[in-house]
Amino acid sequence: MYKAKVITVSDRSYHRERPDESGPAVKKALESAGYDVAEVLIIPDDKQDIEAALIHCSDKKNCALIVTTGGTGFAARDVTPEATLAVCDKLVPGIPEAMRAASLAVTPRACLSRSTAGIRKQTLIINLPGSPKAAVENLAAVLPAISHGLDVLCGQSTDCAETNESSR
Ligand code: MTE
Repeated sequence: MYKAKVITVSDRSYHRERPDESGPAVKKALESAGYDVAEVLIIPDDKQDIEAALIHCSDKKNCALIVTTGGTGFAARDVTPEATLAVCDKLVPGIPEAMRAASLAVTPRACLSRSTAGIRKQTLIINLPGSPKAAVENLAAVLPAISHGLDVLCGQSTDCAETNESSR
């Protein structure tokens, strides 16, 4: 069972001006998929705060997966992708490509999400949009593939062909 952390990035939720519905929705989806998910962390749309939270959950808490929700749009304070890129060693472009491709079937606005994904040490970090609906829809598009990526990242598997056959 992989350890996962959900981080809600939202000035309004951080200042208790709006309840965080996205973090719990993402947590529930991950738990349904078999992840061990700690309490949702709520932080403001601040690049340094986001970087610090990602580094802490990766390096100190040893989370295999960190999923952020919020801050991927066009608003001046939307900086989650920039903070993610700043702390990652490698990019995983296929994850946001798959999320946007699947989401375009739901809304033409899917292309407005600047979500990214990358690897820091042995942690996969994925950005999701901020609304509960968008966050869950985007996560659902990539959830079936993520566990295999984590198996390889964490050294549990190197055989893509075998696990690909068994997942069909
Ligand atoms: N993806 C899905 N599947 N469903 C949605 O409703 N909303 C889009 C997009 N991706 C949406 C979606 C919208 S309107 C925006 S502005 C971007 O995600 C970024 O959202 P954020 O600013 O809340 O992070």
